[in-house]
Amino acid sequence: MTDKTTQPRVLILDTTLRDGEQSPGATMTHDEKLEIAGLLDEMGVDIIEAGFPIASEGDFAAVADIARNSRNSTICGLARANIADIDRCWDAVKHARSPRIHTFIGTSPLHRAIPNLTMDEMAERIHATVTHARNLCDNVQWSPMDATRTEHDYLCRVVEIAIKAGATTINIPDTVGYTYPMESAKLIRMLLERVPGADSIIFATHCHNDLGMATANSLAAVEAGARQIECTINGLGERAGNTALEEVVMALRVRNDILPYRTGIDTTKIMHLSRRVSTVSGFAVQPNKAIVGKNAFLHESGIHQDGVLKNVETFEIMRPEDIGLYAKNIAMGKHSGRAALRSKLRELGFELADNQLYDVFVRFKALADRKKEVYDDDLIALVADQAANAENDTIQLKSLRVVCGTAGRAEADMVLTIDGADHTTDATGDGPVDAAFNCVKDLWKHKARLQLYQVHAVTEGTDAQATVSVRLEEDGRIVTGQAADTDTIVASVKAYINALNRLVVRRAKTGPGDDVKMVNYRDSV
Ligand code: KIV
Ligand code: ZN
Repeated sequence: MTDKTTQPRVLILDTTLRDGEQSPGATMTHDEKLEIAGLLDEMGVDIIEAGFPIASEGDFAAVADIARNSRNSTICGLARANIADIDRCWDAVKHARSPRIHTFIGTSPLHRAIPNLTMDEMAERIHATVTHARNLCDNVQWSPMDATRTEHDYLCRVVEIAIKAGATTINIPDTVGYTYPMESAKLIRMLLERVPGADSIIFATHCHNDLGMATANSLAAVEAGARQIECTINGLGERAGNTALEEVVMALRVRNDILPYRTGIDTTKIMHLSRRVSTVSGFAVQPNKAIVGKNAFLHESGIHQDGVLKNVETFEIMRPEDIGLYAKNIAMGKHSGRAALRSKLRELGFELADNQLYDVFVRFKALADRKKEVYDDDLIALVADQAANAENDTIQLKSLRVVCGTAGRAEADMVLTIDGADHTTDATGDGPVDAAFNCVKDLWKHKARLQLYQVHAVTEGTDAQATVSVRLEEDGRIVTGQAADTDTIVASVKAYINALNRLVVRRAKTGPGDDVKMVNYRDSV
């Protein structure tokens, strides 16, 4: 048996709240960010990259509050290579028990051309900004963005400058998911060999998944000497996403025989975090996603089922319990009480305050009346729905009636409570969802465009709850709404309204059209 305590430690930096949240439509509310940060901290993530403080007042407030509430994790904020960004970042992270400033600049020829800096000018900029960050904070991370497409000689030169200026972690981003495992390892080895002072800092690997190699590239970098992996829950992130935390952590655990490195992650928390991130970001996890997909531990074929029944190791390389996934049984019946519900929710990873538990209990009773069997997944959807659709929302659904079928257009009539007052209308449409959405548009006028409408059945059976995701876009602002109900049309309308309520919050935060002006991290100075 291997003694893991003597194995080299690989730090996990989670950037779900920064790089992950950058996915169009993945915007999370302030409270959701705080909740996710709390769960990451509890799971044992070493560093939480909580946001990009200069990007908006909302980002700043979220990073500052996450820093204030942090317990064990280091809290990191992102800053471009300029003094204003770094000062703003420090003002947000300084409240943490253990703060970190992460500053970066694009060093590849393509990225150098944007601010139009010569190699020498960029080198000077790196020296000045890392020095400034280090004067504020003992823990400074520096990244040469697009490192995998930067000339090796220049990369060595700027990494050396950053180390001399005081950077304690050097992150090597594969910004566009361009590298492949052998090359990823070679790059880290080259830096360790050629850069003076490289042995005094930690190298990090930050991969994107454009060619589906983010996990492999991250692990290859670790084998070559990187000791920090940057990743997100569910691989959330722009385009094809970032390295998935659950994949690298479980790979290091399952293949510890050939990857003898340890992390501080409590893997039994993975499933709960995956579900929460999926809900609050509005990004559903594909069923065949490694580790956390719905099918990851399902065995359909007879041969597989037979093998698993005789010995689970025939077709399973890890146990569902390792990631916090427990056997699905009938969770609760309509006679179950509040204490039983609290204990079941605890088992599923939810710690609710008394008033939240009361709300969920009322909804649970209503669901148990409509649905024969209430499964774990039903309860998870219920809690998510309760959290997403708050009592103080500007727009609320009071009632809905729909008539549809083969005889002509669908008809809907609806009452919405908007800012406390009831408003009634009716509308027709191409099908019941269209008719109901037309009622919403009539009662709460807006010009947001529907970008995505997705329905998932939570469990099997015709009485199953449906979870619906709706993504809207208005003047460059993208918001995603979610809701669950046994009635698909009701769930659809609630998800639409949830997205509109998020739009109200976004408009208030940024002012009309301000998102378009919002700072973009791609302009790295
Ligand atoms: O992908 C990237 O290059 C980044 C940097 C800001 C580290 O996210
Ligand atoms: Zn990135």
